[in-house]
Amino acid sequence: MTDNKVKPTTTDAGIPVSSDEHSLTVGPNGPILLHDHYLIEQMAQFNRERIPERQPHAKGGGGFGHFQVTHDISAYTKAAVFQPGTKTDVLMRFSTVAGERGSPDTWRDPRGFAVKFYTTEGNYDMVGNNTPVFFVRDPMKFQHFIRSQKRRADTNLRDHDMQWDFWTLSPESAHQVTWLMGDRGIPKTWRHMNGYSSHTYMWVNAQGEKFWVKYHFKTDQGIECLTQAEADKLAGEDADYHTRDLYEALKKGEHPSWTLHVQIMPFADAENYRFNPFDLTKVWPHGDYPLIPVGKLTLDRNPTDYHTEIEQAAFEPNNLVPGIGVSPDKMLLGRVFSYADAHRARLGVNYKQIPVNRPQSPVHSYSKDGAMRMDNVTDPVYAPNSKGGPAADPSLNPPVDVWSTSGDMVRKAYTLHAEDDDFGQAGTMVREVFDDAARERLVNNVVGHLSDGVQEPVLSRALEYWRKIDQDIGDRIAKGMKGS
Ligand code: NDP
Ligand code: HEM
Repeated sequence: MTDNKVKPTTTDAGIPVSSDEHSLTVGPNGPILLHDHYLIEQMAQFNRERIPERQPHAKGGGGFGHFQVTHDISAYTKAAVFQPGTKTDVLMRFSTVAGERGSPDTWRDPRGFAVKFYTTEGNYDMVGNNTPVFFVRDPMKFQHFIRSQKRRADTNLRDHDMQWDFWTLSPESAHQVTWLMGDRGIPKTWRHMNGYSSHTYMWVNAQGEKFWVKYHFKTDQGIECLTQAEADKLAGEDADYHTRDLYEALKKGEHPSWTLHVQIMPFADAENYRFNPFDLTKVWPHGDYPLIPVGKLTLDRNPTDYHTEIEQAAFEPNNLVPGIGVSPDKMLLGRVFSYADAHRARLGVNYKQIPVNRPQSPVHSYSKDGAMRMDNVTDPVYAPNSKGGPAADPSLNPPVDVWSTSGDMVRKAYTLHAEDDDFGQAGTMVREVFDDAARERLVNNVVGHLSDGVQEPVLSRALEYWRKIDQDIGDRIAKGMKGS
């Protein structure tokens, strides 16, 4: 058969079918026969096409590309993916947080910025956002936070009163809420926003020295944002605006890229740094820890099947390679459990055998069986064994990515560092990073948001919250609310 000859339709078992159009009936006008197993295959497969959407970050899109190291940062990490000159294939997925799969791309929300590096030492997933901070600092509150952003039980509607109720009772949200209500709260496209690890991670070099690190992927396209009015219009006209933009750019050969920089904190600095460096609601000021360039992340290829390559992609912050470890950030420690659990529920226990989630490096694990296992398991199926099965080699991934700690088992907030507070960095952003026009847009965005259904006593608490961030901005929002 030549390549351009139309291929015959087959069943999923590869058997040629006799019609794409007609079911099997008793005479042309007669009843349909149950033994038309091809019709039944069509209906049954169709009825099972949808899988559960991600709980948060359901709406998104992505593509493939590579990461190229451009600077020598081997003094800080031995991870193969960050060694000089290394080029690694990547998968990326961008997303909104609160909306469902069909929701508009241009809603005001943080954006997910998830990167899977197919490294020679196994998959490394950097599951970040386009913001350097987050709303809460303890994983106990994450689930409640997400529910407050989604839909009410009674009306099945999103509800700004519910959102501000949670935020104002969680003052640690002030920094992220200020960021969200500012210009960057709605990026123009995914290509025009930064990505951040947000968390602090640990890096370990070849000599076993440990460092704390934060990642900043800076867009090479430049930061561009949408105003609330532009975003609202697009939400009605083209709910898939960001998905379409990325697809069209990659199709045209316009390959978006991001330059990765890191902030490095010497291990010993953490204990007495002026802020808790592991608190996810804080940034490390650039003046304290300047950005160090690492390399370039480039996307150059669209998926060909969104379902198998993007919807079934499983990013998990627990995918850490030798030379990269966790820090005492409680949110990160919670996430290291949550994602693989979500994937087992959403995709099934053997989700790592779906091609997009498979490492490019060899897998010699002792996992076996379970629904939808693809690879044959070979004996021996246990360790230790004397039958030639895989054996752990501690020299490949020595357990150095740990820190010392001691104490009673407690349910308590982090101990405070000298300058820890909930509102300081949010205030700095408003006063020192935003200009007059950005402050005016911030006030208008907040007034617009609060005017949409926020009731007493939440409204008064919201005004107080903003006065704690910045007295003048709070007063202007209060004035705006009187006039609204
Ligand atoms: P810098 O002046 O060095 O950094 C300010 C940073 O603010 C910029 O580098 C830019 O981050 C970011 N920024 C600019 N415009 C906006 C905006 N409209 N919305 C959100 N972020 C914006 O000062 P510091 O490092 O001392 O930080 C001062 C404040 O800036 C912090 O309190 C924090 O609120 C905010 N910030 C700091 C970041 C950090 O990692 N230090 C990162 C982002 C915000 P970028 O260069 O990443 O684009
Ligand atoms: C998606 C949990 C905080 C970034 C998800 C998913 C879960 C989850 C269950 C869905 C996974 C799936 O079904 O595929 C949590 C928990 C958190 C937390 C428990 C805190 C304790 C964060 C933070 C960030 C983040 C702080 C960013 C710094 C993302 C991204 C996705 C995601 C980008 C989408 C990944 C993709 O594109 O598939 N989160 N999350 N999350 N989360 Fe979190």
